[in-house]
Amino acid sequence: MSQLCRVYPECPGWVAVKGDNMNTLPIGLFDSGVGGLTVLRAMRARMPGESFLYLGDTARLPYGTKSRDTIIRYALQVTAKLVERKIKLLVVACNTATAASLPALRRAYPEIPVIGVVEPGARAACRASRGGDIAVIATESTIRGRAYDEAILRIRPDARVIGLACPLFVPMVEDGLVEGELAEGIAARYLDGIFRTPRERGEKVPDCLVLGCTHFPLLAEAIAHVVGPDVTLVDSAATTAQAVKEILEKEGLCSRNERGETSFMTTDDAERFARMGGRFLGFPVPESRVELVDL
Ligand code: DGL
Repeated sequence: MSQLCRVYPECPGWVAVKGDNMNTLPIGLFDSGVGGLTVLRAMRARMPGESFLYLGDTARLPYGTKSRDTIIRYALQVTAKLVERKIKLLVVACNTATAASLPALRRAYPEIPVIGVVEPGARAACRASRGGDIAVIATESTIRGRAYDEAILRIRPDARVIGLACPLFVPMVEDGLVEGELAEGIAARYLDGIFRTPRERGEKVPDCLVLGCTHFPLLAEAIAHVVGPDVTLVDSAATTAQAVKEILEKEGLCSRNERGETSFMTTDDAERFARMGGRFLGFPVPESRVELVDL
């Protein structure tokens, strides 16, 4: 096995250990549940030749209401399971876990690149915002940790960032309540204070809204209806997929297959994971591909 040691800018301290068959290994992804499948969906579309191994920690969902220490502990346990199965790169496909645990994961696993969803989402927001007024909606934990604020301000120091926790959006999406009067009513309850009310007073409102939670892209239509057509919605799934593709290309780690395979692990109820997962992934998840694991 040849060893190549250098530092990747996204992953300070990453020491890549490259073997002849690293290319064939899957990309590991994890989320607190099925929400991260929106990220997997974007990755499969951009990299059809790659194989993926996805772990949804459904037994302990939601992460978004837990303390930072608990989220870090969970993230380390989930990653240990993925690494045990052998992966060439880890995507933390959960905003809450990214915000709380990215440095801890990179310290614990210096031999693999660890990519989160916050940095790519922040980059996309900075590109999308014309005036620099950016709103971020996410779970309580992500908002409390201010990870998006910090990432946005690192890229665009003149930006003004407003963060808002929308905890009800997660169970709404889990229950399939993603459109119609009720979904829009709840979205308005959260978002009117940032958009409609200041607009009515003639005040400036953000021109960009970051959907800083894996579940929120499924509510995009209802949210767009509430915030209006002048506000650009940013979802980090596509930009994260692009970032991963660039790293694989740069490191010569791309799969040489034409079609990759996708496998799933869950910590609770494989049947429910398969049933719910199809909605996030955009096509049915066969239960036979979902393995129940204990962490
Ligand atoms: N996956 C989480 C996120 O992106 C949302 C669900 C949860 O709270 O666990 O923040």
